[in-house]
Amino acid sequence: MKVLVSGAGGMLGSAISAVFPSALPGVSLTLAFKSVFDITNIRSVSRILLSVKPDILVNCAAYTKVDKAEQEREVALMANAVGPGILANACRESGSKMIHVSTDYVFKGTRDGAYKEDDTVNPQSAYGATKLEGEKRVQAALPHQALIVRTSWLYGPGGPNFVKTIATKGKELGKLRVVDDQTGSPTFTRDLARGIARLIQADAIGIVNVTNSGSCTWFEFALEILRTAGLDHVEVTPVPTSEYPLPAKRPKNSVLDSAKYISLAGEPLRHWKVGLADYMSAGTDGL
Ligand SMILES: NC(=O)c1ccc[n+]([C@@H]2O[C@H](COP(=O)([O-])OP(=O)(O)OC[C@H]3O[C@@H](n4cnc5c(N)ncnc54)[C@H](OP(=O)(O)O)[C@@H]3O)[C@@H](O)[C@H]2O)c1
Repeated sequence: MKVLVSGAGGMLGSAISAVFPSALPGVSLTLAFKSVFDITNIRSVSRILLSVKPDILVNCAAYTKVDKAEQEREVALMANAVGPGILANACRESGSKMIHVSTDYVFKGTRDGAYKEDDTVNPQSAYGATKLEGEKRVQAALPHQALIVRTSWLYGPGGPNFVKTIATKGKELGKLRVVDDQTGSPTFTRDLARGIARLIQADAIGIVNVTNSGSCTWFEFALEILRTAGLDHVEVTPVPTSEYPLPAKRPKNSVLDSAKYISLAGEPLRHWKVGLADYMSAGTDGL
């Protein structure tokens, strides 16, 4: 099976390159980095898709600066919606299936309980709105050949992420204030990559939520990071979002329901605390 990965240099893209060879025996991976494969460039996308002719394109390319997107909506729209639409049209030409990664931030976040795939979307931020537009463009171009994977609160080797920030700032400052009224499911990029491999094996299409099991607030996540890092002495104060204002509005609750993933993959992804311990014990990223 030939798999082409766009956005291969990002946090999820690099996890997919690390995990797919063992998770999908016999896979032939082509990694496409932004410098040579800009997903917004129609001509180069079409040329590369028609020459590689992958069975599956996994799109990990995105504009992920949630707060900056409020100022740079057009730039975010290009990477998060126009580019995925271009990729989906090129996949139609080359006969490839497409897996596109999306976000919990397509939801408003006021629901009690976890969001199912077909719950009403209502993004509260420019980032969330551009990601939702991307989902729509992909599904419109490839109604029977696209899988949209919605995930949340990613961390893993490579990118800047919450785990690194908390461990570094905790060590540096000895005390932190962390938001305690937003709940979600922290997800290790390598577990997500394994989950995507399972969905490939299940030939899934449509929208599927994929996150590590369990949920917590950012405050609870920070406590677990510090405990795992042996930094229990760091003083952490829970604060409401109102005391930590940021440009982009976030959902209060963006836990995603995993029932559909479990029915396709046969089992849930492991608990977020287990994924976190695995990431931190690997010694990558100086943790
Ligand atoms: N991070 C999270 O917490 C989170 C949560 C939920 C969902 N997601 C979704 O998960 C996916 C992967 O996220 P991630 O955290 O791995 O993101 P990331 O680390 O920011 O990686 C995104 C990659 O896409 C590249 N890129 C940007 N514009 C591009 C373009 N026009 N053409 C080709 N490549 C381009 C970026 O390159 P440059 O850096 O050079 O621009 C970067 O290498 C995204 O769809 C994201 O929306 C992320």
